[in-house]
Amino acid sequence: MTPTPSLNIAVLISGNGSNLQALINAISSKQLPAKISAVISNNIDAYGIQRANQAGIPTTNLLPKDYSSRKAYDLALRDLVATYQPDLILLAGFMHILGHDFLEPFQEKILNIHPSLLPSYPGLNTHQQVLADKKSEHGCSIHYVTADLDAGPLIAQAVIEVTASDNLESIKNKVHSAEHFLYPTVVNWFAARRIRLCKEQVSLDGFILPHSGLRFIIPD
Ligand code: GRF
Repeated sequence: MTPTPSLNIAVLISGNGSNLQALINAISSKQLPAKISAVISNNIDAYGIQRANQAGIPTTNLLPKDYSSRKAYDLALRDLVATYQPDLILLAGFMHILGHDFLEPFQEKILNIHPSLLPSYPGLNTHQQVLADKKSEHGCSIHYVTADLDAGPLIAQAVIEVTASDNLESIKNKVHSAEHFLYPTVVNWFAARRIRLCKEQVSLDGFILPHSGLRFIIPD
């Protein structure tokens, strides 16, 4: 029997890389039939680069300061990513807004993980805003990447409870744990070809998902 070909992934990072690590762990424990063929960082100090090196994954630093414009950077990034012929490109804490020049050849192949229940709290400092607004729910979202910041079609969310005793550190940790569950889970759906995007609607196993994507409630 021919083995199912595994999903070829490129991961883009800027920092700690704990989501990258969750994906590496899922692959090495055979819970995710995928291969990370490249980790690309736009920050030379990203700890995620060390994580990738330890896992034997090829890494590249592609730094915006080496390019004359955002367009030039996006085109260089596009060409670099294309050399790996990825089935899926995962943004995992990649702090750079990608323009059409990058996105165009990879339509429907780029996912992002965001630390809020989108469409609430796009952008930065989501945990601080949730605490300031005294919300009782928070979480993370995985969505297709489009040129609109944090606004592409949603695939899944993991919801955490915010309690009276929570602070910035504790909700950050809860959201991170939820992320480390959610990203490998969603990537697994891609590996099994269970996810489809059709006219802004995401479906799983042929069933159209709600606008929030599939929601997981993480017990406190
Ligand atoms: C995560 O919270 C993710 O949602 C956001 O950036 C953070 C990256 O964390 N996009 P890490 O680098 O994976 O630890």
